[in-house]
Amino acid sequence: MYKSIIKVLLLIFISTSIYAQGGMWLPNTIKGSIEKDMHRLGMKLKAEDIYSTDQNSIKDAIVQFGGGCTAEIISPKGLLLTNHHCGYGNIQRLSTVENNLLKNGYWAKSFEEELPAKGLTVTFVDRIEDVSNAIMKGVSDNMDSKISQSIIDKNIDSLKKATAIEDYQVIEIKPFYYGNKYYMFIKTIYKDIRLVGVSPESLGKFGADTDNWMWPRHNGDFSIFRIYAGKDNLPAEYSKDNIPYTPKHYLPVSLDGVDENDFTMIFGFPGRTQEYLPASAVDQIANKLDPARIKIRKAALDVMEKHMRKDEATRLKYASKFAGIANYWKKWIGESQGINQVNAVKKKQEYEQEFKRIVAERKDFSKYRDILPKLDSLYNAYEKYNVAINSIYETFSRSNDFMRVMSYLNRLKKYYNNNGAAGYNKFKDRLLPYLNGMYKGLDITIDREVFEALIKNYKKSMSPEFVPKSLSNLSSDEDFAYFAKSIYNSPFTDYDKLKRIVDTTDIDWAIAQMDKDLAFNFAGEISKISDELVSPKTNELETKINSLQKKYMKAQMDVFPNNSFFPDANSTLRVTYGQVKGYHPRDAVYYEPVSHVNGIIEKYVPGDYEFDLPQEFLDIYHKRDFGNYTDKTGEVPVCFIATNHTTGGNSGSPTLDANGNLIGLNFDRVWEGTMSDLYYDPSICRNIMVDARYILFIIEKYGKAKRLIDEMKLVHPKR
Ligand code: ARG
Ligand code: ASP
Repeated sequence: MYKSIIKVLLLIFISTSIYAQGGMWLPNTIKGSIEKDMHRLGMKLKAEDIYSTDQNSIKDAIVQFGGGCTAEIISPKGLLLTNHHCGYGNIQRLSTVENNLLKNGYWAKSFEEELPAKGLTVTFVDRIEDVSNAIMKGVSDNMDSKISQSIIDKNIDSLKKATAIEDYQVIEIKPFYYGNKYYMFIKTIYKDIRLVGVSPESLGKFGADTDNWMWPRHNGDFSIFRIYAGKDNLPAEYSKDNIPYTPKHYLPVSLDGVDENDFTMIFGFPGRTQEYLPASAVDQIANKLDPARIKIRKAALDVMEKHMRKDEATRLKYASKFAGIANYWKKWIGESQGINQVNAVKKKQEYEQEFKRIVAERKDFSKYRDILPKLDSLYNAYEKYNVAINSIYETFSRSNDFMRVMSYLNRLKKYYNNNGAAGYNKFKDRLLPYLNGMYKGLDITIDREVFEALIKNYKKSMSPEFVPKSLSNLSSDEDFAYFAKSIYNSPFTDYDKLKRIVDTTDIDWAIAQMDKDLAFNFAGEISKISDELVSPKTNELETKINSLQKKYMKAQMDVFPNNSFFPDANSTLRVTYGQVKGYHPRDAVYYEPVSHVNGIIEKYVPGDYEFDLPQEFLDIYHKRDFGNYTDKTGEVPVCFIATNHTTGGNSGSPTLDANGNLIGLNFDRVWEGTMSDLYYDPSICRNIMVDARYILFIIEKYGKAKRLIDEMKLVHPKR
């Protein structure tokens, strides 16, 4: 009796707690239970203050920045705040050797000095509608997934056509809950975005890769832009005559900062999560896929780092490439460790036991009985292909530039074979400008060494059926070195030579040059393995898995009606909320939730490429010229952490207090909690933000750009 009570309590605990925290909600769906939970944690706003189509609301101050980040408006003149690492590429493009904005920073002293960031756009979400019924009309549960998808595609098409929009708006319709629901987004895209202010890299990227994904953090990861509009305040192509955009809403900035347990809310565009996978799939990612990808990236990074340490010019050339590869290399290590540390697989298995128990008990759930066993066996079959497709991508594309180029040339030949000269030229005209830029950042010696290291790893790690003949014959280090040399002894390693061959009217001749090239043929072998042995099976299994995941999603919602299920992130606008909180990363260690400027000084290493500081910053610090940006410690707070559930894409998202004032700027997560994309654990998952007061401090004291602060509305909500 006693035992069974405990068992029941335990099961209730498991089934209600697994998704009890975390979650990224569509802002148009928070009215009701989510809003109530936000109030429970201290929020003072109403759901309508956050999202409304009848009145201006906070969502009118939030934009998607470029393709993959978030930004927010912080003044009535369209001033835009985002991360330093989000503006990085644009700032790099505005930089020259003589005028290196990345290195020196830049602070426009007037509107005239604000620099147009060509190609950069920001996107507002005007409204969101649940269009599930219209999209799923004519689709039934037991339909073949190809047939149902074609009906859905048709429905999407006709709804788009039937929906009236302005000519500056766009429509997007996306699946949620694995296609159990569909939402439509009406959006407005602004195209004249200008750089207003950015600190030097040494502050904006302080700690760089060593501190990346880590707490405690001291990185002022922010940059400032402005939206410009036509005279009618509507989107316009860049023009000198454009004017600063007048927003429907902008965020007041709080000078009062945060205390532990304060309510926080993040509003932004999280990219991708997979919170509803079965235990077997999570196990596969953490223990098979991540380790394979980590190994490949590590091999590439080691080669790059060796060269970067030797030579400053190389370091500059490879800094961005290195950071990009290192970012997810480090994330996957944290993810894989985190999954195992918190026993996520076991906890998911317990959840599945409970799911199965309830399903077995109820007749109306009998249709759900075979979902999990089937999913498990599908994922089991998928493992080999999942690891292979990702390893091929990581080895021959992501970390190796020359092989990526050669696979493009293979594609170019395919276009010629399939669509003749027109197909060839169309692809060529897109390819050459891209390659022109890419080769400028390429050091072919480093790339060859990366290739050599990666093919060794590839041969050793991959199942033999996916290893091309030319590699399976190699065994000694000399063999690999010789092979790499001969592959790189190709005219295509040089952009000018490549262009001379590819950019011709005699396409047959160009193809003949490719056909006799070793590198071209090797890339062809790899493409063949990928296209013929891996992709078909991968696609077939993924189609089956997705349609079962859709069923499993619906089943979980039916079986656990009291749990709240948020839709996985898919680069749409979401709200997530939590509280400022420290955490215990391991036994006997507690991390406080707020870091301060004195910590920057503690980490300072003169001359170091990650921890150096500008002299002006040191001067300000030693004069203690902190303005009114200090907290009770007498220091300026720099970063803080909270329990908000965020992911990639949330970078640049505003952190709001209980009243909707800006208190921080999201930019990262803590090492121990990077597995939150697969399994959110409230005890150790934390997001990392720059404190708004550090941002103001840098703008005023370092950037001497008081004019920007004068534009903002500074508030004291705690007084
Ligand atoms: N980890 C952060 C996010 O995923 C910041 C990345 C930028 N910094 C870097 N060192 N790569 O995207
Ligand atoms: N740093 C990430 C971003 O750039 C945020 C995260 O993954 O936590 O979006």
